[in-house]
Amino acid sequence: MARVRIENLKKYFGEVKALDGITLEIEDGEFLVLLGPSGCGKTTLLRSVSGLESVTSGKIFFNDRDVTNLQPKDRNISMVFQSYAVWPHMKVRDNIGYPMKIKGHSKEEIEKRVKWAANMLNISELLDRYPSQLSGGQRQRVAVARAIVLNPAVLLMDEPLSNLDALLRVKMRSELKKLQEELGVTTIYVTHDQVEAMTMGDRIAVMNRGKLQQVGTASEIYHKPVNMFVAGFIGSPQMNFLRAKTVSDGAKTILKGHGVDIPISSDPGLEEVVVGIRPEHIGLGKGEVSFEATVFFIEKLMSSTIIHATLEDGKEIVSMIPGDHEFKNGEKVTMSFSTEKIHLFDPKTERRIET
Ligand SMILES: Nc1ncnc2c1ncn2[C@@H]1O[C@H](COP(=O)(O)OP(=O)(O)OP(=O)(O)O)[C@@H](O)[C@H]1O
Ligand SMILES: [Mg+2]
Repeated sequence: MARVRIENLKKYFGEVKALDGITLEIEDGEFLVLLGPSGCGKTTLLRSVSGLESVTSGKIFFNDRDVTNLQPKDRNISMVFQSYAVWPHMKVRDNIGYPMKIKGHSKEEIEKRVKWAANMLNISELLDRYPSQLSGGQRQRVAVARAIVLNPAVLLMDEPLSNLDALLRVKMRSELKKLQEELGVTTIYVTHDQVEAMTMGDRIAVMNRGKLQQVGTASEIYHKPVNMFVAGFIGSPQMNFLRAKTVSDGAKTILKGHGVDIPISSDPGLEEVVVGIRPEHIGLGKGEVSFEATVFFIEKLMSSTIIHATLEDGKEIVSMIPGDHEFKNGEKVTMSFSTEKIHLFDPKTERRIET
């Protein structure tokens, strides 16, 4: 078991700053998810922690041991990749036992640990098969069993579920989470799937362009995104952003933009702000802040309906309401939200304004 500390880590590939000063601490036994768009540096960070990638500058510690320049084999880590990377010419039992074999463990010891790992992953019946005789999901279980067989201090997983079909992904999500809790192994898990991140991570580290944007629980990141990038990246459909001017008439402050008037209790201290409001917080009918919109497109998910509409000046707004509803294109609707659901951002820095 280990606490992982990453200090001002940089990794440049020529001009590309894949990691641009990452500082992050992962607690002993924690399940940390790295989340971010394609190319933001997730795999590079994971490979740096594993030792497969040398870093340009910065340090990595496991507990208080500096591992920055250690070989992967000397770090007591194991890694699970998106492509299952199991050896086709080896039976499942030999695949799982391989990391122990190269470390010179005895046959009996290997047999015992392989049985244990296979049991953890529910693949005890498959030990004498070859990978070609397994489904994708079973192959991925073999890869995970192999990763845990040696009791790594740190388990690193890079999009391990993205090759599985949707149903199996959901199943494996909860199984992997349960397994990690049982083992108590410090885990860094990379994904670009926000649902995976929200449901699996003790904490989520959101990255963009080689930089950490926010580290926090799913709830913190959803309710208090620190900037417009995180606000827009977390949540589906994406948060609406409306530019608004701050108008004070002595007694009260109103944010005015795109024909929508939002009274607020405390002055944000800026002439202009960006108001963020999530689609699931915009309902139909009158409410605290009401406005008219014209429907131009709907997505019927049956359990919910996503309404794409335009405000009076043509600005698009998206609302998501529970249930199955019909709308005609061009239909005028009244929508509303409550001011406690809005997020405010500085249009220049794109940072959250606390109110
Ligand atoms: N070996 C390499 N040589 C040059 N550039 C690289 C190399 N590996 C990664 N990069 C660049 O570094 C950046 C980060 O890549 P990385 O693979 O870490 O992204 P990622 O977040 O894992 O993306 P994805 O979600 O698509 O897997 C990208 O711009 C990528 O093109
Ligand atoms: Mg990647």
